[in-house]
Amino acid sequence: MSEEAHRRYAEIMRDVEMMIDDHILRQKQNQSQTQGQDGSLASLMSPMPSKLGMLVPTAGPFFSRLPLEAAFKYQDRKRYISSRRYVAPSFNDVRLVLNSAQTMAVTGGALQLATFDGDVTLYDDGESLEPSSPVIPRLLDLLRKNIKIGIVTAAGYTTADRYYDRLHGLLDAIAASPDLDDTQKQSLVIMGGEANYLFTYEPSSPHRLAPVPRLEWLTPEMAAWSEAEIAALLDVAESALRDCVRTMNLPATIVRKDRAVGIIPSEPHIRIARENLEETVLVVQRILELSHLGSQTQATGRSPPPPSGSNGRRGIPFCAFNGGRDVFVDIGDKSWGVTVCQQWFGRQGGAIKGENTLHVGDQFLSAGSNDFKARSVGTTAWIASPAETVELLDELADLMQKKLS
Ligand code: IMP
Ligand code: MG
Repeated sequence: MSEEAHRRYAEIMRDVEMMIDDHILRQKQNQSQTQGQDGSLASLMSPMPSKLGMLVPTAGPFFSRLPLEAAFKYQDRKRYISSRRYVAPSFNDVRLVLNSAQTMAVTGGALQLATFDGDVTLYDDGESLEPSSPVIPRLLDLLRKNIKIGIVTAAGYTTADRYYDRLHGLLDAIAASPDLDDTQKQSLVIMGGEANYLFTYEPSSPHRLAPVPRLEWLTPEMAAWSEAEIAALLDVAESALRDCVRTMNLPATIVRKDRAVGIIPSEPHIRIARENLEETVLVVQRILELSHLGSQTQATGRSPPPPSGSNGRRGIPFCAFNGGRDVFVDIGDKSWGVTVCQQWFGRQGGAIKGENTLHVGDQFLSAGSNDFKARSVGTTAWIASPAETVELLDELADLMQKKLS
């Protein structure tokens, strides 16, 4: 029975794998057609959607193929999915198969940049990266393999000491590591507030982190976001949050920062109901979209530039999300944060590409899902706990070793 289940599940995975291959092929053809614009008949024909595109119109861009059949076989050996008689393959089984497939796709030389979310990905929600964390030796191992690391967190602090508080285990371990050279040590950046504060590892700086002035890293699009528009967007978001606190009688306090506004529990031990956090996100998103002050990255990518002839307004990109215990509205989102890392590390030889980037995070489904935004600029892995991050990094190291030998 389990052999038959294994054969059938593997077959389904192969079918989906082939659908994605076909989608990638069309994605490439459409790209070359739009780039061609040579007036030929081929370039004038409207692109035919793939079968996957018809079934899942919101599917984002694929940066790599996904070896789903092989990934399923790997996870089946680990989780005994096809040995189960009563419980069908679950959402988590599929999520882990997809992670394995993505991991397989970026090993074999493709991976140049790994970005990590903070809360729930590297440490438990609201905690810090302590020296004893098993994730630390795995991150050092990536640096040793000359892979760049970006910690792309929503946590927004203007000064290095606050990031040191949250990440001291890692920063001290890098400083003490005898076998990392200076270039490898400097291959770590912190991108805070989603896309608002950049710090590089710098052993001589206080707290081992040096802030990089915005002018040195903002992309041209980001440099065009005016301070007045940012403040106006945050004002509207703050008033929407206040309305939610009042109408749902939330036990919450408003926190206003220079690049974010949020609600946090009024006492540390209080938990705001998940449903009310989700409602708050949806209300704030709607009000900001209607105000035309803000725009959101969609599943299929960032919105295109406004059509010529329109008044040119698209709004400042923002990310309103449910952080588990709180709701925050940040300027920009992780698609911008990861883009900055790709450009920062590619300052000399050209930006690191999406197919050479892997973002690991936990927020892909809750309202606002801030890690999901990174999906539009690189490959992603969706983990559910720091322990899963450790497993993923072990899988990655294992595959790299096997492919090397
Ligand atoms: P992440 O999981 O590393 O992206 O961090 C998300 C969490 O950071 C949120 O749920 C908040 O608890 C916390 N946080 C602290 N400051 C900010 C901020 O300015 N914007 C968004 N989240 C923040
Ligand atoms: Mg998180």
